[in-house]
Amino acid sequence: MTGAVFSRAAGRDLPVVAGGRGTELFDTSGRRYLDAAGGAIVVGIGHGSAEVADAIATQAREVAYVHGSAFKSTALEGYAEMLGPLLPVDDPYIYPVSGGSEAVETALKLARAYHLARGEDRSVVIGRTGAYHGNTRGALSVSGRDGLRAPYLPWLGTAAHTTSPYEYRCPFPDSHPYGCGARHAQALEQEIVAQGPHNVAAFIAEPIAGAALGACVPPDDYWPAMTAVCRRYGVLVIADEVMTGFGRTGRWFGCDHWGVRPDLLVAAKGAASGYWPLGLAVTSGEVHDTVQRAGFVHGFTYSHHAVGAAAGLAVLKILSRDGLVDASARRGEQLGAELRAELADHPHVGDIRGRGLLWAVELVADRETKVPFARNERMAERIAAAAKDRGVLLYHSTGCANGSEGDLLVFGPPLVISPAEVTEVVTGTAAAIREVSRVRPSGGR
Ligand SMILES: Cc1ncc(COP(=O)(O)O)c(C=O)c1O
Repeated sequence: MTGAVFSRAAGRDLPVVAGGRGTELFDTSGRRYLDAAGGAIVVGIGHGSAEVADAIATQAREVAYVHGSAFKSTALEGYAEMLGPLLPVDDPYIYPVSGGSEAVETALKLARAYHLARGEDRSVVIGRTGAYHGNTRGALSVSGRDGLRAPYLPWLGTAAHTTSPYEYRCPFPDSHPYGCGARHAQALEQEIVAQGPHNVAAFIAEPIAGAALGACVPPDDYWPAMTAVCRRYGVLVIADEVMTGFGRTGRWFGCDHWGVRPDLLVAAKGAASGYWPLGLAVTSGEVHDTVQRAGFVHGFTYSHHAVGAAAGLAVLKILSRDGLVDASARRGEQLGAELRAELADHPHVGDIRGRGLLWAVELVADRETKVPFARNERMAERIAAAAKDRGVLLYHSTGCANGSEGDLLVFGPPLVISPAEVTEVVTGTAAAIREVSRVRPSGGR
């Protein structure tokens, strides 16, 4: 019996990747793919950067691993120094880990540790319906994706949930689109009061909901109203920027669109652009000082990794030097405009939304009623497969409409994508949608 890989795509035969360059990937048969999703919205600076590979190799040659409690490293100190001014957090301190879920777990513990250090036994964290914050138990607990939570429910359950600003299916249809921010804030306040304000430690949310709800940009009055409620009740704000961070939405961080200053922030994905499994939990100076005074009982073997810091630093330098955050905003506008021109009239396209280079197309069985396709039609999966056959890699997500149904095609290409490649993504996607839904809309571009 030989060893084998526990596949993430059981029952499907996957191509073997041979290489990548910029927005392109190649398999061992020589096929080219245009990566419109950066894997899982991970790759910001593009594939195949020799600069990042060299930075990783140099650090690994000097020293690859020391325990975070025994040594500092110039790589990590330098990374924190360069990243600090870009973070939307006051007097930030970074706690580097190995990915988004670890960063979320760390932030949840930091939130509780902060309150304990101040003599308050607060433990409840409020997440949002439909949200995704990771697959470890704490992260899944604050997530609101029923399909992922269901098998593990006996292990979950300490978190509470409030409404999501999912504008296409607004939870406040009676007043939509007026005053939605205030309605969401009211719902959060009601949840805090129901839990007992002295019990609530934190509210966790993505500034712009990523893949789970499909690039949902909240109304402009949302974040000011939500943070005001949190401040009123001494509830910490945790911004989950795992997907939206590092230029993905056309600003350095999603919080920047509304001037949000969270107490804690988590990032991953774009931080090292896939070259290293790097995640970050960031605290404000106040949270840091309070927690450190009392002592923070936490840690992972691979946290504070010098090679990870070298990778993060190299990626940060490239994002800055090459103006990729602005590029994300510009190419994002093009992507949104072309998706709308090509698909807005399609009878099975319900909504097209996004910001920067994070976009989603929500597919529906009926545009009038917004009824989703039945799950067994597997629309998102089939369209993503048809796009892959055309050489365009999309990310897809399901369950946005009601927990199990709701089909999303999600776009998050490397920020180095060219105008011509944006058009290639849109035409490839539109052709895949038309092929799978077997409807050819009249008109179009
Ligand atoms: C918003 C958000 N938070 C957390 C995570 C978990 O990150 P990871 O898969 O690196 O553990 C993800 C992953 O997709 C995410 O999108």
